[in-house]
Amino acid sequence: MTDQLLAPADASLDATWWRQACVYQIYPRSFADSNSDGLGDIAGVTSRMGYLAALGVDAIWLSPFYPSALADGGYDVADYRNVDPQLGTLDDFDAMVAAAHNAGIKVIVDIVPNHTSDLHGWFQEALASEPGSAARNRYIFRDGKGPDGAEPPADWVSHFGGSAWTRLQGDPNEQWYLHLFAREQPDLNWDNREVRDDFLTTIRFWSDRGVDGFRVDVAHALAKDLSEPLRSSVSLDSNLPLDGSDPLYDRDEVHEIYAQWREVFNSYDPPRTAVAEAWAPAERRMLYARPTELGQAFNFDLVTIGFGADAFRTVITTCLDEAELTGASSTWVLSNHDIVRHASRFGLPAGTDLGAWLMSGGTSPTLDEEKGLRRARAASLLMLALPGSAYLYQGEELGLFEVADLPLEALQDPIWERTGNEKKGRDGCRVPLPWSDSGDSLGFGTGSSWLPQPESYAQASVAAQDGRANSTLELYREALRLRRQLQSAEELVWVGGEEPQVLHFARPGGWQSVTNFGTKPVPMPPGVIRLSSSPIVDGTLPAETTVWLTDWPA
Ligand code: NOJ
Repeated sequence: MTDQLLAPADASLDATWWRQACVYQIYPRSFADSNSDGLGDIAGVTSRMGYLAALGVDAIWLSPFYPSALADGGYDVADYRNVDPQLGTLDDFDAMVAAAHNAGIKVIVDIVPNHTSDLHGWFQEALASEPGSAARNRYIFRDGKGPDGAEPPADWVSHFGGSAWTRLQGDPNEQWYLHLFAREQPDLNWDNREVRDDFLTTIRFWSDRGVDGFRVDVAHALAKDLSEPLRSSVSLDSNLPLDGSDPLYDRDEVHEIYAQWREVFNSYDPPRTAVAEAWAPAERRMLYARPTELGQAFNFDLVTIGFGADAFRTVITTCLDEAELTGASSTWVLSNHDIVRHASRFGLPAGTDLGAWLMSGGTSPTLDEEKGLRRARAASLLMLALPGSAYLYQGEELGLFEVADLPLEALQDPIWERTGNEKKGRDGCRVPLPWSDSGDSLGFGTGSSWLPQPESYAQASVAAQDGRANSTLELYREALRLRRQLQSAEELVWVGGEEPQVLHFARPGGWQSVTNFGTKPVPMPPGVIRLSSSPIVDGTLPAETTVWLTDWPA
């Protein structure tokens, strides 16, 4: 394939490529290891571009690959305009982008504007500078409260557990600095013009290298009310007020920042795209997705619900309405690098406390793998039929389960340490991918991998599923192929009249998706069966299965 063959006839069409794209998330350190040092890398991504093209994704989103001490899996960035030497070089990155574009795949990179790494040059300079200096003013330093300033400046807590403030030892005033995540991730001061300008430079830097879009980390936390006295924040970002009055999250001023970013995005042809990770209430989340700002905001609503027709219908209706109000297209997510994989979630009893399940090493309650995979395949097929863009997480196309029994000494997520070993964190969905069914790291590299793979990964590997009828990999391949062919206007019409546990909708042009969330087969609606998440036995729609129908034969 050449660029020329893939170039759309009308360039303006290309400007909307993201609206119904299938975006595949790559967690670079766990995708493919080209030099067998145990860590996935950029050249590894390039080496698997053929796989991604054959899978049929429209774009890849790379989680951070920047220089990092990995205090938070790369979300602690030491240099925003470089590649971590352990993962490669800028030349490797350029080669990866070229390979992706040659394969007709767009590239989205992760941008982490709320905080840097404590090893970032700015933070090191701040540490070496006086309280009140310009260098400290790029971050959020404050004197402590109470006698000798021994108490943190406010009661704000870290997402990873404990206080969001750390006191500097041996500092002139023993000042404290703010970090909403790990202590190695100091929060930037977005009231500072220099900080704002520097991120515009970063966006241009990657856009100039051919990057097509950006995923914006913790997009709702940049603007903060730092006026004295510092006010209490609600418990993290849940139950946020709808009027932007929390001092830390989802403040109205944050939108000025993204309006400015949009000017930069639109200075490219086609305009660069963006998607916000903004854990705000639905009514407020959509503001980030306005065309004058980022264009899309992740909706994580499918991640938080169980496997049931009512819950899916409510989420789908709400999110489509929300997208329509702003002119954005909806986004759909079932798994990512922060959450328990959906094949596991759906195989656990409804209401399972996932944190407690992880702490039990995945033993209590028992995971029903067969059910989990059957439901995951049905949910994925349903998601892929929805209007808007679908974000897939590497390995879900293999039906991978969460690895809940990683040896404790292997855990890397800062959540494990910061909660005093009370929460395990997210390592179980970040285990390196199995490409072959044998070898030290199952084709991830030729040596070991930075997180150990379970034995079950051999059977789930790409090699084990490639060409195997009904494998999850082949299901995704066929689903993505058909989706490209059948996708049309961003519309959905509910088709009623069936049993309550059946969710049936039609897309313009005669494409229908029907999911039986129940535990018994139901009659198959009329139409030509194009794809089914479980084998059709006697002409009925099996339990926990999605089928795609068209009005016309293949
Ligand atoms: C959200 C990212 O998805 C997560 O992995 C990270 O730990 C936090 N933001 C902090 O950057």
